[in-house]
Order: sequence, then C-alpha cells, then structure tokens
Amino acid sequence: VRVVANRPIGIFDSGVGGLTVVRSVMERLPREEIIYLGDTARVPYGSKSASTVLRYSQLSTRFLLDHGVKLIIVACNTASAYALEALQAELPVPVLGVVEPGAREALAATKSGRVGVIGTLGTVRSEAYPRALARLDASVRVTARACPLLVPLAEEGWLDDEVAEAVARRYLGELRQEAPDLDVIVLGCTHYPLLRPMLSRVAAQLFRHEVVLVDSAVATARAAASALGERSLLRDGGGGGLTCCVTDDARIGEVATRFLGHELRNIRRVDL
Ligand code: DGL
Repeated sequence: VRVVANRPIGIFDSGVGGLTVVRSVMERLPREEIIYLGDTARVPYGSKSASTVLRYSQLSTRFLLDHGVKLIIVACNTASAYALEALQAELPVPVLGVVEPGAREALAATKSGRVGVIGTLGTVRSEAYPRALARLDASVRVTARACPLLVPLAEEGWLDDEVAEAVARRYLGELRQEAPDLDVIVLGCTHYPLLRPMLSRVAAQLFRHEVVLVDSAVATARAAASALGERSLLRDGGGGGLTCCVTDDARIGEVATRFLGHELRNIRRVDL
C-alpha cells in the first residue's frame, strides 16, 4: 500500500478549466503529487455528444494510467456527466467525478428543497445532476439551465464586467422564472468558480433571498481526500507537486495561470 500511496493523483479535464479542481485538491492535500491532463486540442467537450466525450475521456484516462496514478479525478463536469460510470466500470483504479460531490453539497445547503444547476449543454442534457440529487433525496426538485457563453467569458478573463453580468442576468433570470424559490445553485462547470463573485451578486439581485452557490471543485477535493483516506492511500510525506500536460499549448500560459491562481511553469505538450 505504501508504494501505491506514493503514486500521483491523476486529474483530467477538457482543457484548462480543471485547474480550478487542481487548485482545490492542492489546498486540501498539499503532500500529493498531481499529474494533470488538459485536453486543450479537443476542448470544448460541453457542446459534443456523449459518445465523443466518452471516447476522449478514455484517451485521457489511458494517458494517466500509463503514468501510474493511484486515483483519477474527472475534473470536467461534462465528462463526469457523460462518462463517469463507464470509466469506473473499466478502469483498475478508483475514479471520482465532480457531479456527485457537488450534488451532496447542494443537498446539504438547500432549505427549500429546490436546487438550480448551471453547466454546459452536455452536462444539462445528460441530466446527471438531477439523477445524482434524486439518488440522494427523491423529494428535491431540480431546475437546470445550460450557460454555454460563460465558458468563453471565463477564458477571456471577463469575470466581473458588464458583458459577463448581462449574460449571467439572462441565464439566471431564466432560472428564476422557472424556479423562483430555489436557494442553491450548483456551479456545474469547471469555469464557473472564477465567475463566482459576479454570479453571486447577480443571483442576489434576481432572487432577492439568499442563494448559496456550490462550487463542485471544493466538494470534489474533499471527496478525493476521503476516497484516499478510506483506502489508506494518502501520501504521508513529501511536499507535493504538479505536472501539467496539455494536448495543445497555444495561449496556455496566460489562461492556465488564471484558473490555477498562481503561475504555472513546466507545461508539457503531449499526444494522446
Ligand atoms: N470542462 C468543461 C465542464 O466542466 C467546460 C469546458 C468544455 O466545454 O469543455 O463541463
């Protein structure tokens, strides 16, 4: 077990967004080595079909397994929504997604039993969040809204300006029309934690009551710590580290730094 415990955690995403999950895992588990794979050559996954997202996810997980990982975290909400069950069934290491941890946290936070979910087209179409929530509590009512324009806004760094706010007002306004009494919104996409201050302000203006925004990146880091703890796979020494691999490196440095929260050196370009 000791030898296995010293192996890295593998985290993959469709691109750089998953670095928000890396950031949370590094804060939670600072001794762990992390190998991150961002499939930047194929991003976005959010507008692609289930079978394509599964095929791409299998390429990414094969890459991580070849690097000897002890646990795989599917940081991408769309990949978690479409591919998690298949990956769990076929891979020899534990595989965690972001949907279930986010759903758990949403359930813990709601008082009205009315939960909103925002994510990519794929995540919303898959109904993965409503299913995960229903498994945990059949009485909870879920309203989901795809917000495809938020991903490019976050990558562009337009996090808290009038354009981003106008877009958010339109999406969240539709959510409010359908479910005025919801009191939790799950940020069901890797990119949304960056937009959180703005989303929180817009939600407060629209709903006029407290709306808790659930960040599935933080919830997933907590779930990863328990998954490793239960299996005695937590590393007990070491200062941690991050190896970042991407399938395309155009524009990567600038955008990646924004998602990780500090400068990212040593980015390796790889082929799957
Ligand atoms: N990583 C994706 C997600 O969390 C967002 C970007 C994409 O569409 O690939 O759903």
